[in-house]
Amino acid sequence: MNVQPSLTTQAHAIISDYVNGNVIAIDATLGNGHDTLFLAKKIGTQGSLFGFDTQQKAVDSTRCRLENEELTDNIILYTLSHDQMATCIPEHFHGKVKVIMFNLGYLPGSDKSIITQVDTTLSALQQSITLLASPGILTIMAYPGHAGGDIETQQITRWCQQLNAECFDCQMIINAEKETAPRLFVIKKLAAFDC
Ligand SMILES: C[S@@+](CC[C@H](N)C(=O)[O-])C[C@H]1O[C@@H](n2cnc3c(N)ncnc32)[C@H](O)[C@@H]1O
Repeated sequence: MNVQPSLTTQAHAIISDYVNGNVIAIDATLGNGHDTLFLAKKIGTQGSLFGFDTQQKAVDSTRCRLENEELTDNIILYTLSHDQMATCIPEHFHGKVKVIMFNLGYLPGSDKSIITQVDTTLSALQQSITLLASPGILTIMAYPGHAGGDIETQQITRWCQQLNAECFDCQMIINAEKETAPRLFVIKKLAAFDC
């Protein structure tokens, strides 16, 4: 039987090509800190990592995960919505961020009614493409199987479709042919001249 790797594993594999050396990275949804830890292990000693989550619980859980691995240098975690990212990330890093990860939905093991919202997600995505370097990569794990996640996934699909194809390559990866199956959007900002 051909078992496909999880979408998270695929996201990490794709991103790995972009985080070689001292890069700037953003985890837009900290959750329990798995993606943050992955990025923290990847950025070099001169790199920087910024993380966002609206729930203090998620920020604390992520900080704890990082401290356990003695990975806290050059990492700033904000208890703030990701639609504040352009304000929080120092201006000299704008246009230089190599990797931005979003993993939408709710905090696993916590209140499932606290989920990412279309308006703030789209605003954060729009800010992300300006913050990204060329080349740079943005990944979005989306979950259409829960209420709210369906509309959010539709809106992200539309948002991807309107991106300038000369500057952005967008792909959607899905492991099961089901409307409700989680999907991974992979948006590469190309190294084109004026992107
Ligand atoms: C699926 S979890 C993220 C999983 C995480 N990446 C990991 O590796 O464990 C989604 C997270 O998004 C957070 N969230 C919801 N709205 C947000 C917003 N506007 N800005 C930042 N984070 C938000 C939730 O609190 C939740 O912790």
